[in-house]
Amino acid sequence: MLLCTVSLPVIATMRDLRKKDKLEAAAGDTLNKTLSIQRLDVCNDESVAECINSLPEKRLDVLVNNAGVGLVGPVESISIDDMKRIFETNFFGAIRMIKAVLPEMKQRRRGHIVVISSVMGLQGVPFNDVYAASKFAMEGFCESLAVQLLKFNIFISMVEPGPVNTEFEMKLMEEVARSEFPGADAATVRYFKEVYLPASHEIFTTMGQTPEYVAKAVVNVIAKERPPFRTQTNTLYTPLVALKYADTSGDLSVGTYYNLLFRFTGLFHLSMSFLKCITCSCFRRRVTPA
Ligand SMILES: NC(=O)c1ccc[n+]([C@@H]2O[C@H](COP(=O)([O-])OP(=O)(O)OC[C@H]3O[C@@H](n4cnc5c(N)ncnc54)[C@H](OP(=O)(O)O)[C@@H]3O)[C@@H](O)[C@H]2O)c1
Repeated sequence: MLLCTVSLPVIATMRDLRKKDKLEAAAGDTLNKTLSIQRLDVCNDESVAECINSLPEKRLDVLVNNAGVGLVGPVESISIDDMKRIFETNFFGAIRMIKAVLPEMKQRRRGHIVVISSVMGLQGVPFNDVYAASKFAMEGFCESLAVQLLKFNIFISMVEPGPVNTEFEMKLMEEVARSEFPGADAATVRYFKEVYLPASHEIFTTMGQTPEYVAKAVVNVIAKERPPFRTQTNTLYTPLVALKYADTSGDLSVGTYYNLLFRFTGLFHLSMSFLKCITCSCFRRRVTPA
């Protein structure tokens, strides 16, 4: 989570300050000058109030909602409490922050709220049902609010990364390794482990962007005078999202995912290899006229 203010340009936040060493090292000379670090748990009302109240005049220009947690696996094996935990962070956590900053932004008629959504906020992905739902919910919330906020000169921007090589996937894989998937039938668990997990890993290694790339995309969005409502960071993933707009019945996107995952697995691997090949550095070499 990033809060950008006028007197303290950037406040980076985390729920567990014991993890701040890496960030402090990356901040270098900016630490405690233009960048400060504060504790913030987006799932906790008091923590949010404490953080916002610490800002001079509670004033900030840009809020970046980045906190998020993932969840993968057969839906039958996921408890309702675990599903609520995902929504508590990805949906209510972001809304808690937006509610906290809106009164001051509305009063000043100025502000920009950036939400790190996901391509899974636009397109469902098998075995990511609950995570995708939490991001879809955020998309619907923000799309509705954005209209009203224009009246107050406040912008909302959804940044929708595709796969990003952060700790996110590693955390999910650790959880998957611990789970026995109680309640899910053997065939579903087999599809999850033998079809989905290898495909997901291949997508991350082929299409995965760096967190720095996504951070630059966020900076670009913040710098715009008229910030766009949506920004997808990963052009390699865009065709998969575009399928649902190409056929409003939804059959094209559902059918394509089904075919790629379960029927033409060979084609899936081939297209991943093709992508790997055309995105490799030798293809990016500058073409000079003969
Ligand atoms: N990685 C991807 O492939 C991908 C793709 C699309 C979108 N996204 C989205 O990008 C955002 C950043 O994810 P990431 O990939 O950078 O994963 P990450 O490395 O796991 O970062 C997520 C961060 O959110 C923090 N967080 C979780 N719950 C929180 C809470 N209650 N209060 C405050 N902070 C909390 C985590 O803190 P702790 O370290 O304390 O757990 C962690 O620092 C998320 O919204 C995610 O949904 C990720």
